[in-house]
Amino acid sequence: MRAAVITRFGPPEVLQFRDLPSPSLMPGGVRVRVHAIGLNFADVMARLGVYPSIPKPPFVPGIEFTGEVVEIAPGVRSVRRGDRVMGFSRQGAYAEEVCVPAGFVRRVPDGMSDHEAAAFTVTYLSAYHGLRTLARVARGETVVVHAAAGGVGTAALQLLKHWGARSIATASTEEKLAVARAHGADETLLAGNGRIERRLRELTGGRGVDVVLDSVGGSLYRDSWRSLATMGRYVLFGFASVTGRRRLGRWKLLKEILATPLVFPPTLPSRNISLMGFNLYFLAERSEYLQSAAAELLKLWKKGAIKPFIGRVVPFDELVDAHAWMQSRKSTGKVVIDLTASC
Ligand SMILES: NC(=O)c1ccc[n+]([C@@H]2O[C@H](COP(=O)([O-])OP(=O)(O)OC[C@H]3O[C@@H](n4cnc5c(N)ncnc54)[C@H](OP(=O)(O)O)[C@@H]3O)[C@@H](O)[C@H]2O)c1
Repeated sequence: MRAAVITRFGPPEVLQFRDLPSPSLMPGGVRVRVHAIGLNFADVMARLGVYPSIPKPPFVPGIEFTGEVVEIAPGVRSVRRGDRVMGFSRQGAYAEEVCVPAGFVRRVPDGMSDHEAAAFTVTYLSAYHGLRTLARVARGETVVVHAAAGGVGTAALQLLKHWGARSIATASTEEKLAVARAHGADETLLAGNGRIERRLRELTGGRGVDVVLDSVGGSLYRDSWRSLATMGRYVLFGFASVTGRRRLGRWKLLKEILATPLVFPPTLPSRNISLMGFNLYFLAERSEYLQSAAAELLKLWKKGAIKPFIGRVVPFDELVDAHAWMQSRKSTGKVVIDLTASC
């Protein structure tokens, strides 16, 4: 089968196509012929070698896909051969075939395209887990979403609108802020101008914000952490700020880590605030929880309350360009890699 391999940690060109044997089907697993892949910033981090628990190169990356079930292990009942499924994997999805535990996939609902199915799982489950399960966002609360024009960011804004919360979106350019407004942001702020803390206070009449959903970290984390209101919840689930435009950017990494204030736990009770974190990769075994969250999210999709924002669709052959595009910070919404299209 054709697969893209991370040959060593480094810039986008370390991704190379190889002809590899198909992966083995595990007990309780399914084999899926991949139609489309959802590109995630985690894939960029994996290529740079800064994602937790990544294998040593060479390996096939990719954590999100849609396709057709072509083989099932004995005893699997949740899906059948021929079903169209969407789901995630612990790497391995940048290939014509992927094998995962059956609990990592679910049937694609009628009317959902391959591109939407490839763009749905990781973004909405991340936004749902951070905002609903961890932060328990309530109607009327004020929620900051950083990197708001991206895949998870636009998903989070749509959910917040549906739940009746007030969202404040941050992003690095005016164009991205326009994307955030189009996906439901009530207020927008340009990130990186050093005035986030003051502007968040102004926008909340000095009270501070109830929740922050932060996948950027570094100096943005420092400024928005200070802006939490009493009973505020801070959800940190990524650290995109440490990456350079093509490579890891060691100086940038050091600068952003040094900008990250250490939290001294005894100070949390007197401020009545909470710091939380998550990584879906390490939650994958909680498939019952993730499946029920996905079912709830797909009901919202059916009602038209949420819809993945696909910024760009790219054929498999142009995967390296797609990685460079995402790392250069130009992408908005989700980037989908189509394995059925040729360039
Ligand atoms: N923990 C988890 O389970 C989990 C799951 C999914 C995603 N995530 C994290 O959530 C974030 C969003 O994921 P995504 O796939 O939807 O990506 P994305 O938001 O579409 O793209 C990443 C965004 O990060 C922002 N960013 C800030 N500093 C950056 C830098 N130095 N280089 C590149 N981008 C930078 C950029 O937005 P601006 O230009 O507007 O700043 C960029 O658009 C990522 O950090 C990812 O690692 C974590």
